Amino acid sequence: MKFSKFGQKFTQTTGISQLMDDMGNALKSDAPINMLGGGNPARIDAVNQVFLQTLKTLTEGDFASPALDSVANYSNPQGDAGLIKALVEFFNRHYDWQLTPQHIALTNGSQNAFFYLFNLFGGEFVEELESGESTHNKAILLPLAPEYIGYSDVHIEGKHFIASKPYIEETTHDGKEGFFKYRVDFDALENLPELKQGKIGAICCSRPTNPTGNVLTDTEMMRLADIAQQYDIPLIIDNAYGAPFPNIIYPQVQLHWDDNTILCFSLSKVGLPGVRTGIVVAHPQVIEAISAMNAIVNLAPTRFGATIATPLLQDDTLKHLSDTVIQPFYANKAKYAIEQLQAELGDTPMRIHKPEGAIFLWLWFKDLPISTTELYQRLKAENTLVVPSEYFFPGLDISDYPHAHQCIRMSIASDDDTLQKGISVIGKIVRELYTNG
Ligand SMILES: Cc1ncc(COP(=O)(O)O)c(C=O)c1O
Repeated sequence: MKFSKFGQKFTQTTGISQLMDDMGNALKSDAPINMLGGGNPARIDAVNQVFLQTLKTLTEGDFASPALDSVANYSNPQGDAGLIKALVEFFNRHYDWQLTPQHIALTNGSQNAFFYLFNLFGGEFVEELESGESTHNKAILLPLAPEYIGYSDVHIEGKHFIASKPYIEETTHDGKEGFFKYRVDFDALENLPELKQGKIGAICCSRPTNPTGNVLTDTEMMRLADIAQQYDIPLIIDNAYGAPFPNIIYPQVQLHWDDNTILCFSLSKVGLPGVRTGIVVAHPQVIEAISAMNAIVNLAPTRFGATIATPLLQDDTLKHLSDTVIQPFYANKAKYAIEQLQAELGDTPMRIHKPEGAIFLWLWFKDLPISTTELYQRLKAENTLVVPSEYFFPGLDISDYPHAHQCIRMSIASDDDTLQKGISVIGKIVRELYTNG
């Protein structure tokens, strides 16, 4: 069967699709696997208890129940009006953003939102000139690589990302050596020719960042917002792990929104990835565009997650759960995994990115004699799955950038036993490599 160019682009095998297959197969197999590879959030009993209770309450009233109402009717393309109202009230209660319902659209997961946004602001643009039409491409600027793997392939035509290499700063964590933190290279960014030539359509960053757990500082965010204003392009902030939900973020930083910012939230990392609910807060013009795209691609976004989340936002239960259960849960996981890693490899050149949020640790095996893509294979042979770093640099040519081949992302969402076993395998293999080459 022959597929169109679009079809070929979206069905081709990519490195990451192979990795995803590995993970899917691992989950299906009977052999015990130390799964440190995926992006699934942890199952947290205290959180699931609240979801179960909410579901029970929502089904009360049988034919007139909110649960049935939500699954038996489409919403409009902008998304479930009840959740949008609850979100407007929630954000205005906790932040001084003065939102209206025209500032919010829902999508089927935030991945769906990024597909829309990167194709709205990146790709081919047509300009009407007196001399006729002129076309040119605009890219999405990722100010700090490594960045989220899920951005890589979403452009309908080509790949339109430009990324900047980070500064790497050695640092301490909890008074201990052996950590580093990425910082935005603003010199490179502010002098980027593509910005000056009008070839950037938007700036985007995840904060906290998947894969590294880095949190861009308030100063870095302000500078990015200034650059975006200066070039009249939006700043897209992927807040999948940030405040106020799931709030897996440790530094005390500000969450800023203004008309030039597109803030993306998700219900996934609070523990509801299956309901596929993403939330976009943006200027009404962007919201109208997203609603129009929703109408074409989905008719309307799914309503079930909206129905669960609405009462939990109305009485701040979701925020409370995020602050008192979800955040401490992952903080403890990070602490546990770091202790294990330092016990295994603390005396080697391994460095850990300072854990500032999200559900991963990012490990840098300085001067490892093999690439982490090869390391991935060796770990896989020992039933341990991680994700090698080379996939996390969309927009950068990493052929002569050794650092991009020396890191791995490991999830900390697994149970302690799996974490301990997986880290012990990583410890054994990496130590052998450092010792024997
Ligand atoms: C940084 C980041 N952004 C967006 C997403 C997409 O999440 P979802 O589509 O489940 O909302 C993920 C999922 O892992 C993520 O890590």
